[in-house]
Amino acid sequence: MRLPFSDMYNRPDERNLLDRTGQGLIGKPLDRPEGPLKVSGAATYSAEWNLPNCAEGVLVLASIPQGTVREIHADPVLAMPGVMAVIADKAMVRRSAQGTAGKAPAQDVTTVEYFGQPVAVVVAETFEQARDAALALRVDYDPAEKPVPLDPESPQAEVETPSDSKPIEGGDLDAAMREAAFAIDVSYDTPGHASAAMEPHVTIAEWQDDRLILRGSYQMLSHNVKEIADCLSIKPDKVRIIAPYVGGGFGSKLGITHEAVAAAVAAREIGRPVRVVMTRQQVFQTVMRRSETRQRVRLAADAGGRIVGLGHEALVSNLPQEDFAEPVTQATEFLYGGDNRLLKVEVARISRLTAGSVRAPGEAVGMQVLEAAMDELAEAIGMDPIELRKRNLPATVPVEGTPYSSRMLVEALEAGAKAFGWDRRQPTPCQTREGDWWIGHGVASAARVNMMVPAEARVTLNPDGSALVETDQTDIGTGSYAILGQIAGEMLGLPIERVKVELGDTRLPAGAGSGGSFGAISTGSAVMRACEAIRETLAKKLGCEAEELQLKDGVASGGGKQQPIAGLVQEKPLAETGSIKPGKTAKDFSQASYGAFFAEVAVHAFTGETRVRRMTGAFGFGRVLNAKTARSQCLGGMVWGIGSALTEELAFDLRDGHLVNHDLAEYHVPVHADVPAIEVILLEERDAAASPLQAKGVGELGICGAAGAIANAIHNACGVRVRSFPLTLDKLIDQLPDPFAPATAKVA
Ligand code: MOS
Repeated sequence: MRLPFSDMYNRPDERNLLDRTGQGLIGKPLDRPEGPLKVSGAATYSAEWNLPNCAEGVLVLASIPQGTVREIHADPVLAMPGVMAVIADKAMVRRSAQGTAGKAPAQDVTTVEYFGQPVAVVVAETFEQARDAALALRVDYDPAEKPVPLDPESPQAEVETPSDSKPIEGGDLDAAMREAAFAIDVSYDTPGHASAAMEPHVTIAEWQDDRLILRGSYQMLSHNVKEIADCLSIKPDKVRIIAPYVGGGFGSKLGITHEAVAAAVAAREIGRPVRVVMTRQQVFQTVMRRSETRQRVRLAADAGGRIVGLGHEALVSNLPQEDFAEPVTQATEFLYGGDNRLLKVEVARISRLTAGSVRAPGEAVGMQVLEAAMDELAEAIGMDPIELRKRNLPATVPVEGTPYSSRMLVEALEAGAKAFGWDRRQPTPCQTREGDWWIGHGVASAARVNMMVPAEARVTLNPDGSALVETDQTDIGTGSYAILGQIAGEMLGLPIERVKVELGDTRLPAGAGSGGSFGAISTGSAVMRACEAIRETLAKKLGCEAEELQLKDGVASGGGKQQPIAGLVQEKPLAETGSIKPGKTAKDFSQASYGAFFAEVAVHAFTGETRVRRMTGAFGFGRVLNAKTARSQCLGGMVWGIGSALTEELAFDLRDGHLVNHDLAEYHVPVHADVPAIEVILLEERDAAASPLQAKGVGELGICGAAGAIANAIHNACGVRVRSFPLTLDKLIDQLPDPFAPATAKVA
């Protein structure tokens, strides 16, 4: 079936199809179809497959930061009960990748580049035997002669401009800063973060002759197939990955990780399936981290509060030769005006586990700092921070001149302000006291780039009037099963119960995978296009034009005719594969999802402890596909915002480079008691440049700036600005106002 467009998305699809169909599924807060399986334990997660004769592997991690493995004393361990093999294959120590097949540096197994790097896997009959042996395995090392620094702030650290991140320069920022009516020049830092997905990384590898089957927890299966094939020097078509349920990824499963390669190598060596489950500590130590950042923000504004100069410079870190550098200034490029500008990211080469994509790489930490600095500018001018933001939204992207595809930032600020009760906020700090607590309110913008990636999906319309959607798209807890079924049901005029969705198997057409907030719009568009092809056939069979065809509740009508859809299909199912690839629309428009965060905090007047009391977020991201799953994404993002603002911080020991807080007891993600009532407002919008669905990405939007709103609320509460995240009480306590001073504060 030929559709009237190529699979490149070159022109905005303005036909607005999904507003003209009649089933009424799109946008509905429908439940996840797989939800009951998950809550009842019936959904099989990767570690839970029971393969006959499966052996267990446990990784052994390097206990020095840098050097070479001199000797692995395998013999004593091989004599332990149940132990079958001690394997140190050089493919195994490949760095965790970012979905960039073939790009990770090849390494020699004897080289250790960071503390905690896997150096071997021990395989035994049971997990307990393997773990015992792995703990007993003695490894001798020779320390590196010329180690790279452990600390990004070290003067010895080599600092580079990342290859894919050219500085953006325009006008004369220094002059603008000198001449401005108001100028802010501040430096903030943010710590490293762990992705902290609930499900640890795990792979079960099984060889059937020369074909490899992996059951594992990954985000982007069609990339992961290429990565594992590349590691093992086999052809990608010899690899199948099965991952129907993934317990969160947050970037850490974009690329394959060490346990996958270890399991595959071990299974080949012993001739049995091998399962390698990482412990929580191993996930923290080896998988990947978000880089810490040091950011300098300069804002120059005229007397009317219009930004004339904007600087955002960041130092991040990664291992030598790694491509990825936290793209801190990604949203700064297009968010606010100011023609005199300098945006720049540099990367310090250090010895720590690979830095990669964690929960909205770039914006999560870039926006939180930019939005805190915006609050500082608003305070300097004496202007309402919402007004300052509204006044500085450019007509086109500064320097580049690209138009915006759509931008609901003003609407989000206004809708959020109204729901939150922003008009009751005190403009100056230290005005509201409730017992021992200072109360304050803060706002921040949200922005996250929108991306489409290549995706395919097959849709089959069966003679019984049911439909099947098939793609290797993953559902990492985000709602892929739900929304892909809704799109197919809507396009084919079927009640949602008549649509089945099968995901997470590379035997199916290659979906986008889950990452960068691109899964829903990319794979969803592929599903939509497959359905369009089916609609063309149905129209022909009914004897009407495709434009006239109406499909609803299993009945087709058009051109004065009407028939059950099942009757049109007859004995042979109609199967079509739809595909989409990013095209000219990605370059012709600046595409991003927008929103606004509002936070109310209480800061303890004596201890500096901060509690977030309530938050409101309002978001515009094109068409809402499912109001329930979209809300959950936004809400989850705001919870991460609380973590970034108040508690999350990777702590490395600078003596030997080891990660000190390598578990969820010591690395503090927000728990229920830390998370207050969160209100999420979804704004309706259409963005035809973003996708044929007219939807944009929402997955990561909820974190992008959220921590800034909390920082600003803390300042509004107690007058203290801390420019080092997380904003823990020890950083606040010395600067708090006298708790006994006569209260000028109103009682809330
Ligand atoms: Mo996301 S951090 O690109 O999975």
